[in-house]
Order: sequence, then C-alpha cells, then structure tokens
Amino acid sequence: MNRMIIDGVNSQTFVCSNIQRIEQFYTNILGLRIVKRTVSHLDGRLPVTTFGFNSHAEELPRMQTITYLEWNPIFYMMPKDGFTDPAVVANAVSNPRAGDPKGRWGAGTNHHLALHVVNRNGLLKWKRRLTDSGIHVTGPYNRNYFHAIYFRDPDGAIIEIASSEPGFGHDETILGSEFKHQPEENLVGGRSELSVASETWPTALPSITDDYALRGFHHITSISSNAERTEKFFVDTVGLRLIKKTEYLDEKGGTHYYYACNEDLSPGSVITFFGLPGYLPGRLGTGLSHHFTLEVENEPALADQRARLERAGVKVSTIQDAIYSKLFHFRDPDGHICAVSTPSDFTVDENADELGQSLCLPEYLEPRRAEIESHIAYRPAPTPVLVD
Ligand SMILES: [Fe+2]
Repeated sequence: MNRMIIDGVNSQTFVCSNIQRIEQFYTNILGLRIVKRTVSHLDGRLPVTTFGFNSHAEELPRMQTITYLEWNPIFYMMPKDGFTDPAVVANAVSNPRAGDPKGRWGAGTNHHLALHVVNRNGLLKWKRRLTDSGIHVTGPYNRNYFHAIYFRDPDGAIIEIASSEPGFGHDETILGSEFKHQPEENLVGGRSELSVASETWPTALPSITDDYALRGFHHITSISSNAERTEKFFVDTVGLRLIKKTEYLDEKGGTHYYYACNEDLSPGSVITFFGLPGYLPGRLGTGLSHHFTLEVENEPALADQRARLERAGVKVSTIQDAIYSKLFHFRDPDGHICAVSTPSDFTVDENADELGQSLCLPEYLEPRRAEIESHIAYRPAPTPVLVD
C-alpha cells in the first residue's frame, strides 16, 4: 500500500469556561503537564492552554496534545460557526449572541476523547483515584477491542480512558472487511450495569504511578448522522483507513466505525464515529470539543492534503500560521470541524525544560501583554480542585 498522507492524530481542542480550573484538573488530577499557555492565534482575547503527556512520551510516535480554549461569558453563546476564521471570531467576541454558552453533542460534533493506559488494572486505578477526588465515573465497560471508563471534565466534556488490550485484531483477519456483531453481554441491556458500577480498585491512590499514568490518546469519537457518507468521506477524501465496522454498544440501532491514520494500529491514531441516523445536530460551546487535528509530515504534505480536499469539492480554509504548527480547517459531511496540521513544536518561543511556565504571546500582541495577563488573572478558578 502507498504511504498514506495523514500520519496520525495531532491534538484535540476543547472549549472550557475557566482555563485555570481546567489547568488544575489536568495537572493535579490527571497528571498531565502544561506545554503552552498562550492565546488563540485567531483572537488574542481567547486564552488557550495546551497539555502534554509525561509518561513514556518518548515512546509515542508523535507529540499529542489536548488544547483548551476559554469561552468565558455565562450568558453568551459561542459563534455558531466556531473559531476558525479570524474575521468571524473578532466580530463574535465583540458582539456575542445572548444565550446558553454550553455545547450540546449531536450530529456533527465530537462525543469524547479517549486517553490511553496499558491495561485494565490501570482503568480500575483511575476509577478509584477519580472517584476519591469527587469525580463521577462510569465503567469499566468491555468494549471488545479495549476496556474503558468515562468521566467528565469540569465543564462536562466526556473523557474516556481506554486500555490497549485486547486490540482490534482478535475478531477478524482483514480489519474492517465485514460488519462485526458484538457479544450480547457487552451491549446496553445485555450487560450487568450493577457489576460494572461496583467494580473499582481496592486501595486509595494518592499519587499517579508509572503503571497507570496516561500515555497519549487512545481514540477520538465523533457523531455522524450517516455512517456510509462519513465512511466515504474519511476513506476516499481524507485518506484514512477503515479498520472496524460494528455496533454502537450503548444505543441499539447505532453503528460504530473505526478509522486508523496509517498502518500502525496502536492506540493513538484512531478516529471513530458513532452512526446515529436520527440524531439532531449538536451545538458548539463549553464542555464540548471544538475540533480534532490530524497530522501530516511537513508543510508540502499539508499543502498537498489541502489541495486533495479542495479537488474533492471540500471547502477548506487558507493555511494558517498557528505559531506552533501550520494548519487548515475543513468540515466533515455533518459539519464537524476538523483540522490538518504539521507536527507541533512548542519550543519556538520557550526552552523545552520551561514549557508552560509563562504566558507566550505572538510578537504583534506583546504591546498588549499587560492587558491580556490581567484579563486572565482576574478569572481565577472558582473552587479549588481536590489534590493529593
Ligand atoms: Fe470511546
């Protein structure tokens, strides 16, 4: 097979209502590290923090990050079209629409981000640690190709932690070649919710040990109103590889299709879609992902991928300089915002051993540093998050 143009998953970007609360959650509770504090390259009034992984990071095929963008108003909605175009963003931030700022998942939005631990004991340890920190957790569920627990970030975005085991290859030789029905005991209605809910790690876990530390992404799951149309788009147009067609285990009648970015089937390069034909479109806002970003090798490959999408009739943005990568946005057939970028380099304005320690601003915003810093400082986290 020819080398595929998409190398892997670069990042996922969420919207939160309070960036400092999110920083406490990801560092104190989940054990990630801040790799950048900055503002959106689209509008300097939008604070942005990016998190990276500490454990076995050198073993990951690429640096993967989770980015949060703050949309702070309590009674103003996010712009309907999201934050992709500088002119639209500037107008939307200056003239917001009154309404509920919360996102609502549905067709054309993300559903969750799954992070990765090696084994099922790791899941049980996370369930215990999160529960002891006052965070509601469901699972561990047997997803047939991995095991998984679920919780929410402080704004309500769904985060999953999934194990490597047993992997995608145990029930078919040629991945994605046929629709695979799932064991009844894994499906909603067939599984014992009580025994799932009652299982946890027997002892408290005051610190995150290496055996269960989070190791990058496992997969990203979004929602499609038409599974076949989404398959055609991501395989034929974007260039991903279908690796599994199966049932959505949590809703009868729904489907779950899995796509890999390349030949590597290890966790971290998998994008999945729930196929839910009757679902209404979702709405961007806090407590929901804004977009995910696929990665290509370099700037020529980025231009190639943009041209490839454009040739297929997909509306693509111009290539933007997002300081730490070059990227462009596009939308899937349900309107879900996606991006393609070059690999991230967070050392362009900070030393590698000092990442995230100060607010980094692009040169043109330096004259406004005092204003931007005080703007962020006056929005402290509303309550302390429980710590070790
Ligand atoms: Fe998942």
